[in-house]
Amino acid sequence: MFEIVSKEKLGPAVFRMDIAAPDIARKHQAGNFIMLRINEEGERIPLTVADKDAEKGTVTLVFQAVGKTSAELAELCEGDSLLDFVGPLGKPTHIEKFNGVVVCVGGGIGVAPVHPIACALKDIGNRVISIIGARSKELLIMEEEMKATSDELIVCTDDGSYGKQGFVTEALDEVIRREGKENVALVVAIGPVPMMRFCAKTTEPYGVHTEVSLNPIMVDATGMCGACRVTVGGETKFACVDGPEFDGHKVDFDELTKRLAMYKESEARAMKIYEEASHGGKRCWE
Ligand SMILES: Cc1cc2nc3c(=O)[nH]c(=O)nc-3n(C[C@H](O)[C@H](O)[C@H](O)COP(=O)(O)OP(=O)(O)OC[C@H]3O[C@@H](n4cnc5c(N)ncnc54)[C@H](O)[C@@H]3O)c2cc1C
Ligand code: FES
Repeated sequence: MFEIVSKEKLGPAVFRMDIAAPDIARKHQAGNFIMLRINEEGERIPLTVADKDAEKGTVTLVFQAVGKTSAELAELCEGDSLLDFVGPLGKPTHIEKFNGVVVCVGGGIGVAPVHPIACALKDIGNRVISIIGARSKELLIMEEEMKATSDELIVCTDDGSYGKQGFVTEALDEVIRREGKENVALVVAIGPVPMMRFCAKTTEPYGVHTEVSLNPIMVDATGMCGACRVTVGGETKFACVDGPEFDGHKVDFDELTKRLAMYKESEARAMKIYEEASHGGKRCWE
């Protein structure tokens, strides 16, 4: 069993949890994720390791309650335990000292997975410009953590309630033009699928290499079941073992969007049954 050592609410339906998992904390590298299962009847879900403390033997998850399993997880408390916690999974991010600037872009909950990548790139001596965004101020997460690991941090909100008004893609375009496309070595963009798609579209005309971290539905996370199949550069890849990071200019985002929506009805039904059974139709954290 894997104990929840601490829990914090970061925003509406967004939570941070530290889990006691010493082996994963020791082996984790930026870009890795874990698969967890709450109990015997539970479904497995993948979550990125947003941070780790190898000395304490804990890993940090930052997640949004969007459906049955993430809602059930959000209801657990400090001292509760998870039945299965497997990782580190996925290929780690390629980290090197680049000649140009590196731009890390996180949208919504995507700030959590971009954080360890920004840290690893900064630790090796890169100049890191980070752009983080959310729909509004109350949904913005991990601003202090991103500030601490960036040479420059640009904050955007769609409604202008904090930072610059507008999408992260507009700030990304401004940074590339200001720095000069030849001086931008890499863009890493993580967030909702439309945000990653438009980040890749923004950088394509400049020819700036752009890594995105894909979030297809995963079942076994061992490369056996094919649930996480994505098409990249015309080739079939399994995000759990070949990714989750891929060249954003080569990803078939239309297919990814369609595959993510495949089980929408069943997901909504599972959530409704869960909420009705446990809370009379109300979300307990609201
Ligand atoms: C490698 C990887 C890393 C991830 N890291 C994180 C993370 O650090 N934090 C985090 O909050 N989430 C992360 N996700 C997404 C997370 O796994 C899903 O939100 C979760 O599986 C939803 O399960 P559920 O049962 O709560 O909801 P479901 O019932 O499965 O889905 C409810 C609704 O959520 C949306 N949804 C479902 N699956 C996904 C998905 N994979 N991506 C985006 N939206 C989805 C759909 O709109 C769906 O209708 C990651 C996904 C992958 C593949
Ligand atoms: S989740 Fe089964 S192959 Fe990737």
